[in-house]
Amino acid sequence: MKILVLNGPNLNMLGIREPDIYGSNTYADLVKMIEEHCASIGVDVECKQSNSEGTLVDYIQQAYFDGVSGIVINPGAYTHTSVALLDALKAVSIPTVEVHISQVDEREPFRQISYVSYYASKTIMGKGFSGYIEAIDHLVV
Ligand code: DQA
Repeated sequence: MKILVLNGPNLNMLGIREPDIYGSNTYADLVKMIEEHCASIGVDVECKQSNSEGTLVDYIQQAYFDGVSGIVINPGAYTHTSVALLDALKAVSIPTVEVHISQVDEREPFRQISYVSYYASKTIMGKGFSGYIEAIDHLVV
């Protein structure tokens, strides 16, 4: 089984950006944790990050041609704005879990809509980095 873990804008700044909200661990720490977990359960994983909406769309489309069977996505701020990411997920029709490090539903009003959640089978929020592990396990079962 092949899983794509996709992170959107500013998630490369983990450890630096708003540590009170996102914690002090880095994006590299996140990737290491995901890779170690996937190795332990025998899942092939690829972690990708981009600050660009179009590149994220390209990565989702590429997942179809690469035979990816599950997507874990934290679209960052594009969660709240991007019909293009929603359409890309619908186009490839790959089972998807949405992850947010923070408890988005307790934050600003502009964060209260998620376009991706119209497609994702599950949304995990407020669990820090372990939300990604929970998402992977949900797709693997
Ligand atoms: C986020 C929440 C979003 O509202 C924000 O724009 C992010 C990160 C999270 O992981 O909690 O960049 O997706």
